[in-house]
Amino acid sequence: METLENIKNRRSVRDYTDEPVRDEDLEKVIEAAMYAPSSGNSQGWEFIVVTDPAKKEEITNLTEKNRRSMNAPVCVIVCYDLRRQKFSDRWPVDCAAAAQNMMLAANDLGLGALWVEIYPDKFRCEGTRMSFGLPEYIMPFCVVCLGYPKNSAEHTVRFEKSKIHRNFWTEG
Ligand SMILES: Cc1cc2nc3c(=O)[nH]c(=O)nc-3n(C[C@H](O)[C@H](O)[C@H](O)COP(=O)(O)O)c2cc1C
Repeated sequence: METLENIKNRRSVRDYTDEPVRDEDLEKVIEAAMYAPSSGNSQGWEFIVVTDPAKKEEITNLTEKNRRSMNAPVCVIVCYDLRRQKFSDRWPVDCAAAAQNMMLAANDLGLGALWVEIYPDKFRCEGTRMSFGLPEYIMPFCVVCLGYPKNSAEHTVRFEKSKIHRNFWTEG
């Protein structure tokens, strides 16, 4: 798919078919994450692939308003190894770049994806740490749910020229 087209037609997917995600596609999605920019090129991300229904249920219980989304065949918990961080407080930004790459790679492969927040919600962070046995230097950031979409995505126009300010702040 053409890159700009891929960016523009990506939508959050919250309903998935039962079709499993092929291992090679899952790997491509995670590979895309590893090509994201990172502060000081730290590449401190780590990924927990969750397919076990009981563990997915634990994620659902932590992020309960997203009950439907956890019907996804695969949930990937994007984490960060703080021992790799070169500049303080940059790790969430690095993880966000990685997660966005995953969403775009998924879309390109015909998969649906959803970003479910963990960080900075304290309850979700601590719950994920407990459920998945994360040591204190591994920070959970978000869950990227993956699966084949049940419905076709709605396309919307989001471009707003008034949001572009040239050389100096100008009121829209
Ligand atoms: C930081 C962040 C946290 C999000 N957390 C959730 C979440 O917990 N549950 C959810 O259903 N969607 C979550 N989303 C997805 C947004 O709701 C979604 O991206 C937004 O509504 C725009 O829709 P689109 O992704 O289809 O463009 C999150 C997105 C971001 C960037």
